[in-house]
Amino acid sequence: MSKIVTIKDKQFKPYISQQQISDAVKNIANTINVELEKDLPLFLVVLNGSFMFAADLLKEVSIPCEISFIKVASYHGTTSSGTVTELIGLTEDITGRTVVIVEDIVDTGITLEKLITVLNRKNVKQIKVATVLLKPESYNKEFTIDYFGMKIPNDFVVGYGLDYDGQGRNLKEIYVLA
Ligand code: IMP
Repeated sequence: MSKIVTIKDKQFKPYISQQQISDAVKNIANTINVELEKDLPLFLVVLNGSFMFAADLLKEVSIPCEISFIKVASYHGTTSSGTVTELIGLTEDITGRTVVIVEDIVDTGITLEKLITVLNRKNVKQIKVATVLLKPESYNKEFTIDYFGMKIPNDFVVGYGLDYDGQGRNLKEIYVLA
């Protein structure tokens, strides 16, 4: 495994190897291949961070499926409810579908909660969540994280799609703040 990388003002050290990531992704795919075989799942990939995971995961998914890419945008609406969450890029009719949210990391779960709230309004059949990394010490929502690669402590990580201030997404391994 390679050594310390510097991104802007911070140094990161190797944390999770390519092999470990690859094994974790295959495990997730194997479970999905069994559990969702008859569901024609729609994988909803949450950009930007999940692009690398999505590519690797979908290569290992062998059941009939569809894939679509979205961005979650939050803005202060003019209604009394305050913040409005919008899904950019979702053009499919997802009524009655099994949707698998593909995330890079679940930290507090705030992003996921917003996403699930919007999807639930669209009368989907079921929502599943797949993420490479989960920070259980930070996660305080009730939604089940159906498929995760690894649990990690509350440390800041980069690589494999995850960024520090826009950079580091291209790293093949996952690095942690040194
Ligand atoms: P949450 O809403 O707190 O669960 O955070 C979700 C988003 O925060 C993720 O999709 C990431 O973009 C970002 N994030 C959380 N933890 C990290 C990290 O350790 N490194 C890089 N980005 C992170």
